[in-house]
Amino acid sequence: MIKVTINKKVCREVDTIIFPFFEGNLSIPNEEVNNTLKRLEERDQFKGAFGTTFNSTRTKDGRVQDIVFLGLGKEDGLTVDKVRKAFGKVIKNLETLKSSEVFVGLPYLEKFEMAGFVKGATEGLILGAYKFDKYSTEEKKAKDLIVDLGGHRCNVELDQFEAVVEEAVMLSEGTIIARDLVNEPANIMIPSLLADEAVRLGKEFGFEVEVKDLKEIEELGMEAFLNVAKGSINEPKLIVMRHFGEPDNKDKRLALVGKGLTFDTGGYSLKPSTSMDTMKSDMGGAAAVIGAMCLIAQKNIKKNVVAVVAACENAISGGSYKPGDIIGSMGGKNIEVLNTDAEGRLTLVDAVTYAIRKEGASEVVDIATLTGAALVALGTTATGVVTNNDEFYNDLEKASSLTGEKVWKLPAFEEYKKLIKSDIADLKNVGGRHAGTITAGLFIGEFVEDKPWLHLDIAGTAWLGSAVDYCPKGATGEGARILYELAKLR
Ligand code: BES
Ligand code: ZN
Ligand code: ZN
Repeated sequence: MIKVTINKKVCREVDTIIFPFFEGNLSIPNEEVNNTLKRLEERDQFKGAFGTTFNSTRTKDGRVQDIVFLGLGKEDGLTVDKVRKAFGKVIKNLETLKSSEVFVGLPYLEKFEMAGFVKGATEGLILGAYKFDKYSTEEKKAKDLIVDLGGHRCNVELDQFEAVVEEAVMLSEGTIIARDLVNEPANIMIPSLLADEAVRLGKEFGFEVEVKDLKEIEELGMEAFLNVAKGSINEPKLIVMRHFGEPDNKDKRLALVGKGLTFDTGGYSLKPSTSMDTMKSDMGGAAAVIGAMCLIAQKNIKKNVVAVVAACENAISGGSYKPGDIIGSMGGKNIEVLNTDAEGRLTLVDAVTYAIRKEGASEVVDIATLTGAALVALGTTATGVVTNNDEFYNDLEKASSLTGEKVWKLPAFEEYKKLIKSDIADLKNVGGRHAGTITAGLFIGEFVEDKPWLHLDIAGTAWLGSAVDYCPKGATGEGARILYELAKLR
């Protein structure tokens, strides 16, 4: 547990102080610390370069106190996300030092906004400190941390940033909700538990949740979704979440549709074991929309937002769908299934049709761990986006600049659409080896009925094989914050 607050006084008996510095400007109004800094600079041990740290100590009133110097680079090049990264990194120092009460001496800022600094520091600390260790029976090594942001070095009144810290804490917790859902193993996180978690969070944060069972999904004619689900003993669930913050404007309704494969074996087009062992993360899109709904409801944003998750498991049994099958869909199009591992798009198209036809969505965002090709194209750094509406995409870019979750628009030329036309049905569920992320996105685009639409492929960004910046190994919680910021902009 980490608790971050703003507190301008240094008076608390902290065990550790963090002093962030800009390169070439290593000084604070304290002679002892300044002497240490001078010495470190002369010996090239700490110069304030971005992301560098140095642990030191000082004696204050007879007590030894740890001091962590944290390099921020040049103030000119600073961004909120760089602040997040720097503070995400300093968590490792706090772990090494076994700190429990920490004070951050905020820097004097010449150009950069203190609000952005405080936001970045809070989010970096909380997201960087995250651990999923509930299944470890070893004595918990992660200690509780209390962090105060404050200090006399800065040139602004800090009280005004209490609300910034509060919102940054909330946003980080939204991301952590998504991380926790994804990190939960697939033997536990089956579709019914994902639905139960949505219900629980709906009660906690104040959004409406309706869960439809197998019979209701059948009545809705969600044939594509059902075909993916039918190989598993775990019943599929259609999870619908609603927040009506603008009831007078009923026609305006943003739908967030998240891929909710609680496990993806690939089905009869079986995945190799080395690609399968992370597939509990195939509900990362669902986790993102659930996390976003928690934020949207908590802040009671004045927008109408509905989130839809078609939750199921892509498993193998005598009842599973097979390569070559031709299946229907709620939207009415027939689909030739050439690869049972391209299952996400099948569940998503029915969820999109449901959102438009039954929930009155006027614009749609889908978010999904959809293609390995997204990892090939963009790595774990950026989410690939396919859209039919540039104005919508511009808002996504604005949201991205607020959260640091990078997005990149891929081309959606007509030529790519030809690749998913089937010879014997309306569409086929794979477009061949080329442009896999684009053709997967455009497959979903076939079902959006001319609504403004964004498709976010988070296959690369939802999961990390090893820790990067403020994201530990495992689930990143990608999407929760950007969807919240996007909803606020629509
Ligand atoms: N869930 C996977 C995509 C994925 C891959 C997510 C790696 C996260 C990391 C998806 O269902 C899938 O298997 N896609 C296939 C599509 C192919 C058969 C056209 C893929 O990417 O190989
Ligand atoms: Zn798959
Ligand atoms: Zn999948």
